[in-house]
Amino acid sequence: MLVLGTAIARVCEECPERTALADGVRNALSGPDTMAPMPLPRLATSTAAPSELEVDVLVVGIAPTSAQGTPPHGVAVVGIDDGVLSSVAETLGMLGLTGAVDETLRLPAPLGIAASSILVVGMGRAPHTLDGLRDAAGTATRTLSGVARVGIALPAASPADVQAVLEGAAIGAYRFTAYRSGETTAGIESIVLATKADGVERATEVATVTADAVALVRDLVNTPPNDLYPASFVERARAAIGELPIEVEEWGPSELEAGGFGGILGVGKGSSRPPRLLAVRYRRDTEAPHVAIVGKGITFDSGGLSLKPPAGMVGMKYDMTGAATALAAIIASARLGVETRMTAWLCLAENMPSSTAMRPNDVLTIRGGTTVEVLNTDAEGRLVMADGLVAASEEHPDAIIDVATLTGAARVALGERYAGLMGDDDLVQQVLAAAQDTGELVWPMPLPAELRALLKSDVADISNARMGNAGAGMLLAGVFLREFVGRASADADAPRIPWAHLDIAGPANNSGAPFGHTPKGPSGVTVRLLIRLAERFATK
Ligand code: BES
Ligand code: ZN
Ligand code: ZN
Repeated sequence: MLVLGTAIARVCEECPERTALADGVRNALSGPDTMAPMPLPRLATSTAAPSELEVDVLVVGIAPTSAQGTPPHGVAVVGIDDGVLSSVAETLGMLGLTGAVDETLRLPAPLGIAASSILVVGMGRAPHTLDGLRDAAGTATRTLSGVARVGIALPAASPADVQAVLEGAAIGAYRFTAYRSGETTAGIESIVLATKADGVERATEVATVTADAVALVRDLVNTPPNDLYPASFVERARAAIGELPIEVEEWGPSELEAGGFGGILGVGKGSSRPPRLLAVRYRRDTEAPHVAIVGKGITFDSGGLSLKPPAGMVGMKYDMTGAATALAAIIASARLGVETRMTAWLCLAENMPSSTAMRPNDVLTIRGGTTVEVLNTDAEGRLVMADGLVAASEEHPDAIIDVATLTGAARVALGERYAGLMGDDDLVQQVLAAAQDTGELVWPMPLPAELRALLKSDVADISNARMGNAGAGMLLAGVFLREFVGRASADADAPRIPWAHLDIAGPANNSGAPFGHTPKGPSGVTVRLLIRLAERFATK
């Protein structure tokens, strides 16, 4: 079970403390042995020619050579100079292949190829972009089953290309089998990319750590809510952190009470499984730029007394994706040695209806004293996030990013591929740039000031929802959160801390057909951009 660490062990001889940590962060998730997550494949590169790779399957990219829609389709192998593979590609048009993105075909390997079989993957009309490489590699490993050793012959000429291919391939190989009894097909054991690029060791390490981060999010989200609740989430977070140089501070019910965290307590009090707040701190004692990430961690959202209808409740185990994403981003940043101070605030509660649950019309006092009238107990995310934002603000970080499956309205507005992004312009631009780097889809949305009036309460400072008028639900939630972002220093006139809000209610879960490295189910989206954002802050 030490597979994950191997690739890093090779490149990390000079930093033994990190080498040890690399040994399977996900394996530490544990539980009974039978529930252990399937390890991700070991990643490597080779300077051998693709035809010489001793693997079970060789992945080859193809792209269209003729104008769209004009049969017979011309397709050609992308980026490698191999006579045998090129002549195979020439026949593929006759088999009906077009080279379109996500197209795949597995064939027996022709003579002269060391692999047992080849998998051709369509790369569409932008085969040389990082996104094209990442997606093609992900499509390949996602669709392969019953294969141990995968070779990849996609064109990777630079370290960035190598990272994109290996990252896509490792993420696409993800499977969640922990809850399947009996035999399950073994996963891919190793992935080797044929490339002559320099700087491949760091690229391989970054790909390994990044794919692990995505897998950690997916594992946590996939875990059913009878096993994942606030206290067990904390245990799993501690196990995943292991010996990394990360400090954890935990607030249970009595500490939350003492600290005045009325939002987390209010949401959690309907459940027999009490809430938690977890601060996860990396490089706490440094002067480095400090990024705080606040994550929504509702381990199950039934809606509370404002109960969701049955169909709307299915899937609500994924309402803790934000917290999982914040945790995984900080773990990956620590493993990579990113020189940014980071603090993740995981706001963990289970939103259940019961005689102890919060009621509509209850007034909660958020940390720092702001009072909130609960008009809809299903708008619980913003209540726990309010406490998290206030707590994060008390340390006056240089930026606060929050990430939450906050509103069904985000899904209505943007669908299941794009995350909604709101907040202060400069930080929004930084997040957009990070997303551009990682190929994750986020879309900027406004926070119209006039919406604040819709949240007036008859009795408290603000209400958590408005009655009637159903427009702009995603923006209204963002406007609510903004109220809890603090100031850059203890000075009451100081400007507000730069803040950005990611509503990932749409893309956190893919309910449609798989695509690229994304399976049906949890995607792990935005964890890669958060790691990238931390890197960008390090060099500021
Ligand atoms: N967890 C949900 C958001 C959600 C809903 C995500 C559907 C994905 C799909 C959140 O807590 C919620 O229920 N929000 C309410 C807010 C409303 C009551 C103001 C919503 O979006 O309906
Ligand atoms: Zn809800
Ligand atoms: Zn929710």
